[in-house]
This record gives sequence, structure tokens and C-alpha cells, in this order.
Amino acid sequence: MKRNNIASLLDMKSRGEKISQVTCYDYSTARVMEEAGVNSILVGDSLGMTMQGYEDTLPVTMDDMIVYGRSVGRACKDTFIVIDMPFMSYQTSVVQAVENAGRIMKECRANAVKLEGGCAVCPQIEAIVACGIPVCAHIGMTPQSVNSFGGFKVQGKGEKEARRVLEDALAVEKAGAFMVVLECVPPKLAELITKKTKMITIGIGAGAGCDGQVLVYQDMLGLSDGFVPKFVKRFANIGQEMKLAVSEYDKEVKSGEFPSIEYTYSKSDCSDEFLAQLDSEYGEEDNTK
Ligand code: KIV
Repeated sequence: MKRNNIASLLDMKSRGEKISQVTCYDYSTARVMEEAGVNSILVGDSLGMTMQGYEDTLPVTMDDMIVYGRSVGRACKDTFIVIDMPFMSYQTSVVQAVENAGRIMKECRANAVKLEGGCAVCPQIEAIVACGIPVCAHIGMTPQSVNSFGGFKVQGKGEKEARRVLEDALAVEKAGAFMVVLECVPPKLAELITKKTKMITIGIGAGAGCDGQVLVYQDMLGLSDGFVPKFVKRFANIGQEMKLAVSEYDKEVKSGEFPSIEYTYSKSDCSDEFLAQLDSEYGEEDNTK
């Protein structure tokens, strides 16, 4: 059993210890995240934007989630892995939802699946949980519904909306979710939901009152381009570091400085005499053909 598992995470909530989650989509980055000590990795369908360059998450497929999810699964010995169910992989029917959740668990070695929506997806949550698959719900600003919202906007602002978000939270808890992502929800509402539920609340743009936090790693490490939401803190500027390193490489390759002798297998070369013999045996290559 992993060090971070459903029981240990629920214990953390009960002790008031904060839970760290970060998105990740590949093997080498997942190893870094695990070594850094995060409790959980979310293989989010945000990969459609961060890894595939789409403008939203809607084009992401189940096959995409499996490829990225598996790479993370192979890297993590102790980090709790949650994998997103992509747009239209669970909305059509309960059967579709259970089959796709099962595929994610079997093929990626995930620890839980995540799906977006409140009351509307409770039948799916109930059925998936009944199969022994832990579910993380996702309410508030749910990016797969960006077209219904008319953009990536804060949810739960007025009294009616705040009630709707709270009712969504209580409904997904009743359906069996053990964790819920609260995205772009006002902080006092997120705190109230955190107090009223036994589920672990993971906030993104939902203030400090949640049980844990998640950020998209390209945003927090300075690897994303374009608009950066207000809730993102840049913990490093890795994009700039990478650009400097790659432009140095580019210069050294073009000037011939790289690779210098220390980066070659010069001790394995045959004698100069033998290489001269090879040179004469094989004649001149005609590169004009
Ligand atoms: O897909 C994702 O990365 C997410 C987070 C933004 C919570 O759902």
C-alpha cells in the first residue's frame, strides 16, 4: 500500500494537516514531484491545454488519459494518483462511466478517478464507488462546461449560486465521493463546504480554507504561456531557465564547442592507421546522387 492512500489522506483532514496536490502528466516529472514529497498527483485533463496545445479540455480522449496516466503510474511509489475522466467519457450513461473508470484503474494503476459536475453526475459517482473505485468530484468552475459558463469564470458568487455550489458538494458526498476539487469558488463558501463535509476539499482558486490545494504545474513553475489566472503563484521560472539552457546548447553546437572530448567515446576508437586503411578501402562517397 502506498504511503499516501485514501485512509492516510482522510486522517490528514481529521488532524487538520494540509494536503498538497499538483498536476502531472509524464514519468520524469512525476518522479520529481514524488521526490519533492507531494501527497497527490492529479493527471488532469488540463493536459489537453498544457501538453497538447488545445484551447480547452474538450478534445481530450480516454486514450490520451491512459497514455499520460500510465506514465505517471509507473513513476509513483508513494504518491496518491487521481486521474481525470475526460469530456464525454462518463456523461452519456452510468455504464459508460463505470467502464471508463475501470479502464483508468486497470491500465494506469490510478488510486482514484475524478469527474466534473455536482448533482447531475451523482448516479455515475454512486455506480463507480460501488465498484470499489474511489471518486474525487469536481465542482464550482468545471472546465469541461466552459461553453455553458461563457468562459472560465468564478462560480458561487451570488446567494443563489452559493447555495447551488453547496448543494452540489453535499450531493456528491452523499453519492460517495471521498474528495472534491473546488475550482474558482469564493473563499468563505469553500471554507463552509470544507467544514460541512467529511470529504477532502482540494482548492484551486478557492482560498486557504480548503483541506488541500492543487495547481497546474506548468502554471506554478513558469512553463505556461498566455493568460495566468489570479490564483496562480509562480514558485519558479523554469521556462526561462530552459530557454537559457537550450539557447546555450544551440550556440555551442553551432560553434563546434559541443561536444568537446570529454563527451565522446575517444578511448574506444581504433588506431589511426586502421582508420586510414578503412578510409582508403571505401573510397570517396558520391553525395551528389
Ligand atoms: O484538469 C485539471 O488539471 C484539473 C485541475 C485544474 C483541478 O481539473
